[in-house]
Amino acid sequence: MKESLLYLDEVSVTRGGAQILDKVTIQVKPQEITGVLGRNGAGKSSLAYAVMGLQGYRPESGRIYFKGKDITDWSITERAKSGLTLAWQHPARYEGITVREYLRISSGGKADEETMKEALDLVQLDTSYLDRMLDKNLSGGERKRIELSSVYMMKPDLAILDEPDSGVDLLALGDITRLFRKIVNDGSSVIIITHREDVAARCDRSYLMCHGRIVLEGSAEAVRRYFLSQCRPCPDPDAEEFAAEEKINASS
Ligand SMILES: Nc1ncnc2c1ncn2[C@@H]1O[C@H](COP(=O)(O)OP(=O)(O)O)[C@@H](O)[C@H]1O
Ligand SMILES: [Mg+2]
Repeated sequence: MKESLLYLDEVSVTRGGAQILDKVTIQVKPQEITGVLGRNGAGKSSLAYAVMGLQGYRPESGRIYFKGKDITDWSITERAKSGLTLAWQHPARYEGITVREYLRISSGGKADEETMKEALDLVQLDTSYLDRMLDKNLSGGERKRIELSSVYMMKPDLAILDEPDSGVDLLALGDITRLFRKIVNDGSSVIIITHREDVAARCDRSYLMCHGRIVLEGSAEAVRRYFLSQCRPCPDPDAEEFAAEEKINASS
């Protein structure tokens, strides 16, 4: 697992008496786009929260390694400082600053005007947005795009994007893919969390999550095919057996 940027080793999380992550093992390699595909309620956001170290999502068993270090007991701040970031499914609203200030802060204060314009262009927003205030006059979709552009400014070692397409209805699949690739080409790795198999298909490798478990890992295309043709309601007593066979097929 030395070559992994992020490695989750059988991570289990329980909330409100329910097991929401069940021995989840995933690996993210440097400068790859890793997809986590699954239906609503599969546990995808919970996985992101466990990686980020949110309160209530600390593993009861299993370990999380980032850049070779065991970060299981680290605080959110320590994780963020070491290069992990999460773009939320429903972005928080930062009131009272302009988009320009927000992007500058995201870049650690070093962004120039050109880079900020490029970041907005990647999410199909024109430069007039730099002067807009981050407030309720922005739509959910606009806020989401601005948050995605801030990830580009941040250049983290690993960005976890939770449902990056949700609420961004006008951003075409090609544009989203262009943004992921640009972030990766700049030296980051990306985890894309999605319930859309067409989004997962644009990743380098994918995991399929079902009922808090990883049921399949493989090439993005193999996972997409399985999701379309074989994915059954969770929990499915046969799923594990079938997934084990698929795992062998997908990796060969
Ligand atoms: N605070 C909580 N207490 C109990 N169950 C929770 C809590 N948060 C999430 N869950 C449950 O965990 C499961 C996974 O949720 P989530 O990670 O949000 O799934 P996804 O992001 O794949 O839609 C769901 O069944 C959800 O109801
Ligand atoms: Mg979610």
